[in-house]
Amino acid sequence: MSNLVPSPIQAEPSHPLQGILCAPGDKSISHRALILAALSAGCSNIQGLLTADDLTHTASALRQCGVSITLGATGTCVVEGVGLSGLCEPSNIIDLGNSGTAARLLMGVVASHSIHVTFTGDESLRGRPMARVAAPLMQMGASVTTARHGGMPVSIDGAITPIPITYRLPVPSAQIKSAVLLAGLNAPGKTTVIETLSTRDHTENLLRVFGAEVSIEAIGSESHIALVGQPELRAQDVIVPGDPSSAAFPLVGALITRDSKVTVQGVGVNERRAGLFQCLLEMGAELTIDSVETACGEPVANLTARTSSLKGIEVPAERAPSMIDEYPILAMAAACAHGATVMHGLGELRLKESDRLAAIVEGLRECGVETLVEEDSLTVVGAGPDNIPEGGGRIVTQHDHRIAMAFLTLGLAAKKAIIVDDGSMIASSYPGFVGDMSVLGASFSGSG
Ligand code: S3P
Repeated sequence: MSNLVPSPIQAEPSHPLQGILCAPGDKSISHRALILAALSAGCSNIQGLLTADDLTHTASALRQCGVSITLGATGTCVVEGVGLSGLCEPSNIIDLGNSGTAARLLMGVVASHSIHVTFTGDESLRGRPMARVAAPLMQMGASVTTARHGGMPVSIDGAITPIPITYRLPVPSAQIKSAVLLAGLNAPGKTTVIETLSTRDHTENLLRVFGAEVSIEAIGSESHIALVGQPELRAQDVIVPGDPSSAAFPLVGALITRDSKVTVQGVGVNERRAGLFQCLLEMGAELTIDSVETACGEPVANLTARTSSLKGIEVPAERAPSMIDEYPILAMAAACAHGATVMHGLGELRLKESDRLAAIVEGLRECGVETLVEEDSLTVVGAGPDNIPEGGGRIVTQHDHRIAMAFLTLGLAAKKAIIVDDGSMIASSYPGFVGDMSVLGASFSGSG
């Protein structure tokens, strides 16, 4: 959680949103690109790296373990790799700020180095579950101590010779999968992760780009992802695709704000991240996906959204891993749709930067939108584009960047302005959010 003075931001019912944006670099891929470049032999050049607080923390952690990283202002980055087992022991505790991805992935990396590292984070990160990552890493021979509540600080003594394991994910989490695969890099033999619901596969894709052998076999309804340990990772020049999770805000903003048309260029459209776009199309969104290319082993496209008459839909639980970070913004689209949108399988939402399920429900109620939570399902009742949400709420963001951006986006389409209690955390994933949206025509006031 931010230790800074809160910066409230107010979103006013807006002019149409019009224009073209470039999506900021993908957060998940940026973390992985930095980590794999650090573990490779030679000098990697990364373009399009997300310039945001979460990535600054990963870069700083790797530097504290002996990696030289030069970050340019516009997402260019040069990493002098130290090789697969070349990280050295940091002299201090490593603070990862708000970044759960940095925490889980770096735990995996450190677990297969014979060094001792203690990770901590801000109040939000310290409260998030880390035992789910510690469990497989201990099976691989690392000694991992979490705080008593299963969270941070976490201390790791990495295994001298990590044991290759086969691990069935207890929850569909790309972060746990990635931690195990990254730890498996130094293990002699095959490390296998089994998933029943597919999660984002950026680690697998980038491991291949850097020269590792990763095979994926479908066995019944499961996917067995196997990494051959001790590969020769070689430095690469990579371009990070734009982040669909960030592009979601201007695109949904255009769908729900009158007379709007917005194009976001260079957006990653990996199907394991594209659940939101599928939902929006099912809701009747005028959303087009053009000019598909490849970067970092990932499909990238330009997306255009126009003001649309949306209708409520039912979102199955199996879709959750492909849009886990997009439920806050989907809920805003649902608030502007005709009829109820029912979203199933949202248990993991309670464990994100905030309890996102609670934050969405409380915020929407503040804005006059009816919601219902039954176990892990959320219903949002929209009154349709002719009866836009009242707005006027003051939103408790719980210092969660995606909650802040989602409600600021709703504020552009609602009858009355919406104020978020703190916009400072937006810098963890999309520091250019207020600027980009303002260029499109959004009216925001306050600092942020
Ligand atoms: C991420 C995976 C997701 C997501 C997070 C980023 C990643 O978390 O919510 O923002 O980069 O692997 P889980 O793997 O815990 O679902």
